Amino acid sequence: MKNKFYITTPVYYANAQPHIGHAYTTIVADVLTRFKKEQGYETFFLTGMDEHGAKIAQKAEEEGLIPQKLVDGVAKKFKNLWSELGIEYNNFIRTTDSRHKKAVQIVLQRLYDDGVIYKGEYEGLYCIGCEQFKNKNDLVDGKCPDHDEELNFVKEESYMLKMGEKQGTLIKMIKNDEFKIAPERYKKEILSFLRGQKLKDLSISRKNVAWGIPLPFDEEHTSYVWFDAFLSYLTGLGWDGNNEEFQSKVNLCETGKIKNKKDKKALQFWPVDINLIGKDILRVHATIWPIMLMHLGIEMPRQILTHGHILSDGRKMSKTLGNVIGIDEMIEKFGVDGTRFLLLSAGTFGGDVDVTMERLTEKYNADLANGLGNLVSRVVKLSQNYELKIKNYESKSNDEFLKFIERLKFDKGLDYIWDIVRESNKHIEETRPWELAKNNKKKFEKVMQKLITELNLISELLVSFMPETSDKIKKVMKTKEKIILFERVK
Ligand code: MSP
Repeated sequence: MKNKFYITTPVYYANAQPHIGHAYTTIVADVLTRFKKEQGYETFFLTGMDEHGAKIAQKAEEEGLIPQKLVDGVAKKFKNLWSELGIEYNNFIRTTDSRHKKAVQIVLQRLYDDGVIYKGEYEGLYCIGCEQFKNKNDLVDGKCPDHDEELNFVKEESYMLKMGEKQGTLIKMIKNDEFKIAPERYKKEILSFLRGQKLKDLSISRKNVAWGIPLPFDEEHTSYVWFDAFLSYLTGLGWDGNNEEFQSKVNLCETGKIKNKKDKKALQFWPVDINLIGKDILRVHATIWPIMLMHLGIEMPRQILTHGHILSDGRKMSKTLGNVIGIDEMIEKFGVDGTRFLLLSAGTFGGDVDVTMERLTEKYNADLANGLGNLVSRVVKLSQNYELKIKNYESKSNDEFLKFIERLKFDKGLDYIWDIVRESNKHIEETRPWELAKNNKKKFEKVMQKLITELNLISELLVSFMPETSDKIKKVMKTKEKIILFERVK
């Protein structure tokens, strides 16, 4: 399939409410998808929920709910938030969907039959927060640095997935970008991790976690939650777990022999172009996931794209520190497009992004209320009072902007747009078009022509970042109705 773009967010754990970090990942995926669509790509954007495992079971118990009830409630909250934030995904996969569960069982059986999964015993420290076994050297003061909790010592019979034999191939594929890890710093980090030790076989089942997908060849065990979750990137396209069918379907699609339109379309999007993730889940994405695919003989994702974390005033957000910035709070104060703008302009993609409510408010007032909002209302007002014959808009090249977005420099892309906003506001102040309208009609028209052209360009460039605002600007330029795009906030 030519010109296709398949992007995923992680499937989010259904044990807690959506927060600003989830919103950041999902907004970035939405912006990239819209951007690719604008460029003429056929796109598929997958998001969803990770609904099995010890963490979810534990939370359900705390809440006095059966796990399914808990995850249904949380999934609904995520869906509502995405609809509020204008996220245009194609599918919302839930790992408790029966189609997904069946596919996971088919995969497990197949790898077991192939001897890639075998029965063994696992012994080690388990972090429920990460849903991962930890090495001693991953810990700080004996605790997981991400979850600041005591670890559980687990020693139990477990089914294991062979890992080590694929390590050499994996290193090679990462090194030559066949399996790309981006930005570069994360590629280096993973390569040095992989070169530093031999990968141990992975425990892919749990005997004492009932809330999971039973192994088809041993029902006393359930699937390890990450094994289950990774496969959602495939089942989210409608894959049924049957490898031969997957491959032949893709081939048949290519020769046009498949008639089922939905299957044809979705499966053709494989391989993933971008698995978008946060840095805390890079290592599993760069080891377990590609090795699963190698064992299955399925083409690898083209790229694991990794972002940093959102920090609040330099620190990880936590209820104890009282520095949590709620996503609902942001939307209420800054609106949907304001929130999208503020999150993407707050720092450089890939690195950690540090925000405070004060700085966000300041930026909102400066760039949105005073900057863009003011420009739009001034231009509308000026064009309202005077009859203008505007010629066709000049189209201006925006290669520089495109390059920023292609290199994931969203903050720079937005700066580029805001340079035009500032220039245009300055142009109004310097030329004083309301006076020109009275005494120099010709010059007035020239100034207006320029302003309207710039505003048109701004609305075009904003389309992926702030779709609603972009639409409003286009509309108001036609109707010339008075508009307040962004009110100042305190
Ligand atoms: N369920 C797993 C992913 C399985 S994918 C096969 C998971 N879920 S999660 O809900 O804990 O996190 C999902 C994403 O949110 C991760 O990419 C993580 O990096 C991101 N964020 C969580 N907190 C964050 C911030 N404070 N800032 C930015 N993103 C962060 O992991």
